Amino acid sequence: MRGLSGRTAIVTGASRGIGYAIAERLIAEGVRVVITGRKQDALAEAVTTLGGPEVCLGVPGKADDPDHRVEAVAAAAQTFGPATLLVNNVGINPVYGPLMAADLGAARKIVEVNALAPLAWTQALFGAGVTEAAPAESGAVVNISSTAGQGTAPGIDLYGASKAMLDHLTRGLALELAPRVRVNAVAPALVRTRFAAPLMSQGEEVAATRYPLERIGIPDDIASTVAFLLSDEAAWITGTLHTIDGGARLR
Ligand SMILES: NC(=O)c1ccc[n+]([C@@H]2O[C@H](COP(=O)([O-])OP(=O)(O)OC[C@H]3O[C@@H](n4cnc5c(N)ncnc54)[C@H](OP(=O)(O)O)[C@@H]3O)[C@@H](O)[C@H]2O)c1
Repeated sequence: MRGLSGRTAIVTGASRGIGYAIAERLIAEGVRVVITGRKQDALAEAVTTLGGPEVCLGVPGKADDPDHRVEAVAAAAQTFGPATLLVNNVGINPVYGPLMAADLGAARKIVEVNALAPLAWTQALFGAGVTEAAPAESGAVVNISSTAGQGTAPGIDLYGASKAMLDHLTRGLALELAPRVRVNAVAPALVRTRFAAPLMSQGEEVAATRYPLERIGIPDDIASTVAFLLSDEAAWITGTLHTIDGGARLR
C-alpha cells in the first residue's frame, strides 16, 4: 500500500488479537512498529514472532498511564524515527450487566481506557510542540471502535457508550487535525480473540449464524482495513467510521 514503507507506527495493545494482526500487517508493508501491552513477557514474545528488534519494539505499560505514553512516543522516535502513524487499539470491558446496576467506578475506568486514552495518545503524538519535531510527512490515526457503539448492546452498554464517545472524538479530531493528520475509526462486530470469548458462550458456530457472511471475524479482517486507512491509498479519507461486521447490520 502506498506511503507506508519506511514509516514508524505505534499500535497499542498488540501482544495478541486484533492489535497483533495490525502490527503484523504493517510490518509486512515495511512499517517499523512499536507495540504496547501490560504484560512484559507476552509483549517480548510478540516482538520475536513479529520479526524481532529490526522491525518491532515492545514498550510495556497501561494505555491510560501518561508516563507510559511519553515513554512509548520517545522510544519510537529514538529507535525508528518519530512515529507518524497511530493505532489506538486497546479497549476493555471489565463488567457485564444492566446500566441500572452499573458500578460507576468501573464505568469511569472504561471511559478512561476506551475513549480518553486514545485522545491522550493522539495528543502525545500530534500535539503542540510535537508537531514541529515530526517529519514533514502527514500523519494518520485509526481508532478501534466497535459496533457496540452504534446501538444498544444489552449487558455491555457501558462499553458501547465508551465506543460511541470514541467515534465522536474521531470526528472531532479529524476536523481539528486536518489537513496534516487524518483520523478514522473502524468498528468490528465479533472477532475471534480472547476478548470476545465471553460473548460466545454458545460457541463460535452459533455466534456465526448472526452474520450473512456465515462466520465471525478474524483479526486479519480488521488489520487490512486499518493498514488501508493509514496508507496514502486513503489520502482523502478522514473522520469516517468503517463498520466491519460480516453484513450483520443488514438484518
Ligand atoms: N474481539 C472482538 O470481538 C472485538 C469487537 C469489536 C471491537 N473490538 C475492539 O478491538 C480492540 C482489541 O480487542 P481484541 O479483541 O484484540 O482484544 P485481546 O485479544 O484481548 O487483546 C488485547 C490487547 O491489548 C492489551 N491490553 C489490554 N488492556 C490493556 C491496557 N489497559 N493497556 C495496555 N494494553 C492493554 C492486551 O495485552 P495485556 O493483557 O498484556 O495488557 C492485548 O495485547 C479493543 O479496542 C476492542 O474493544 C474487539
